[in-house]
Amino acid sequence: MSEAKRRAAEKAMDHVEDGMVVGVGTGSTVAYFIDALGRDPHRIRGAVSSSEQSTQRLRAHGIEVLDLNTAGPLPLYVDGADECDPLKRLIKGGGAALTREKIIAQASLRFVCIIDPAKQVDVLGRFPLPVEVVPMARSLVAREIVALTGGQPVWREGVVTDNGNWILDVHGLRITDPPAVEAALNQVVGVVSVGLFARRPADVVIVGGDVPKVL
Ligand code: 5RP
Repeated sequence: MSEAKRRAAEKAMDHVEDGMVVGVGTGSTVAYFIDALGRDPHRIRGAVSSSEQSTQRLRAHGIEVLDLNTAGPLPLYVDGADECDPLKRLIKGGGAALTREKIIAQASLRFVCIIDPAKQVDVLGRFPLPVEVVPMARSLVAREIVALTGGQPVWREGVVTDNGNWILDVHGLRITDPPAVEAALNQVVGVVSVGLFARRPADVVIVGGDVPKVL
């Protein structure tokens, strides 16, 4: 699988232009993208990073990490996903970086999503949907999620996000109306963000394979 991820990441370099500030996601697929950027670290002006993990890797390659408040809006955001439907709507947050990923995606003109073929689904929800919550609201939010979706929230124990929050992974969903589910869960008090990218889907999806597919 990692070869497919690497190929998708390499293909995303087609979207990188000289002097750009690039938004950079999180995860094993993005790690290949950072390594590709690192072959010529001064070709871009810098990167806005979605996690401490990606920040460390970017800096190790000598790529400057910039603050979104001064750098944005961004021309390009490159990130992976846990699931992708035919309308380029995504489940993200397997790496617990969903909130910063969502912020950067929203602040970017073009979102290029890089995935291996196993991430393609007809209906989102087989991958448990990550929801970032304020710690004191964990049980409250879990009860609301059951009532709103019928899914089963499971606390990702031991994981603390870069924002100091916790993650609930919602199992057993079949998300036939992603914008409605995203909107409903966003309304729950104590929810920081929902790993459903339907309101702001990807613009381009690159599926790694022998010959990467660009959707
Ligand atoms: C991190 C994410 C990742 O993009 C997602 O989990 C995919 O990861 P990988 O590229 O390792 O398969 O959303 O929060």
